[in-house]
Amino acid sequence: MESPKIAVLGAGVVGTTTARLLQNEMRNTEVTIIAESFKEDTTSAVAAGMFRPGTSFRGSTKEITKKWIDNSWEYWQEILKSSEAPQAGLMSFSSYIFSKENYQVTRNHLIEDLVPIYRPADKNELKICGEGWKYGSYFSTLKIGCERYLPWVEKKFTVNGGKIVKGKIDSFTSLPQRFDLVFNCTGLGAKYLCNDFDLVPIRGQVIKARVPWLKTAFYGDYDAYIIPGFDDIATLGGVRQYDSYNMNVCKHDAAAIFERSCELLPALKNVEIIEHKVGLRPHRVPVRVEGELINGLKVVHCYGHGGYGVMCAPGTAMDAVKIGVDLFKSNIRSKV
Ligand code: BEZ
Repeated sequence: MESPKIAVLGAGVVGTTTARLLQNEMRNTEVTIIAESFKEDTTSAVAAGMFRPGTSFRGSTKEITKKWIDNSWEYWQEILKSSEAPQAGLMSFSSYIFSKENYQVTRNHLIEDLVPIYRPADKNELKICGEGWKYGSYFSTLKIGCERYLPWVEKKFTVNGGKIVKGKIDSFTSLPQRFDLVFNCTGLGAKYLCNDFDLVPIRGQVIKARVPWLKTAFYGDYDAYIIPGFDDIATLGGVRQYDSYNMNVCKHDAAAIFERSCELLPALKNVEIIEHKVGLRPHRVPVRVEGELINGLKVVHCYGHGGYGVMCAPGTAMDAVKIGVDLFKSNIRSKV
């Protein structure tokens, strides 16, 4: 008998992680990733990839949101504990978050009970980034460097027999071959594929800079962040521009990001800037993880993670795979 054929549309962190989990969960199936952009060309590769969910990341209930976050943390911890952590782009580190104005932004109810350390910054720590910081927290967390994770997970997938096809998908009815089940992990692409008006871009721009001495992450007010990474490359951010489709680097955003970063850590003034990057975060409330029958085709959607796709891909992918297994086994037929 021919093995069932499954397509995963999208090769960012959500698509590739879904494909990897699928191979473990649905043995004897043929899984193909179909995408237009891979690895460094995906939105996932723009993100700093620090595990710190924000309140705009939401499932359909509080419990589902928390489950996605907890399961994602477990998935990343498992890789982190393995000997493959560096190749897979996983590192553990700590972060300060400071605010001059708002105590609440220094708290994070989604991870305070999950990460090993989450505590208020003491008087001396509040002075690390200069004068005037009124509130602060210190916490330990992890980072997923997509420049390493995406090649690592793709390789695992192909070594396991997975196929990769490069191509643009305009509709579920024009896939290159017949599939028994399709996972839609196309990020902002789902806006067009599903005609989903609830999916909105939140434009992000970052600076990648060589900062060998940076070992700790820092967050300040107004989306200012400095996050260390692999190969001494730190990510300085950021902006959150709702409903902007501008994929060009904006020199004004770049200047503002650099200025705010240097205000936070003056030692950054002389760092070597490697590149500027722009990405459109696919924002949707709630994140869409559900099955649908589209002209007889069994589809599982997994998109709309906003700026939290890197950290929360595994938790949502686990649910998407469960939905896919049930849908695959069901006898639902097309109504048309
Ligand atoms: C960010 O995490 O700042 C980000 C994520 C995706 C695209 C751009 C920026």
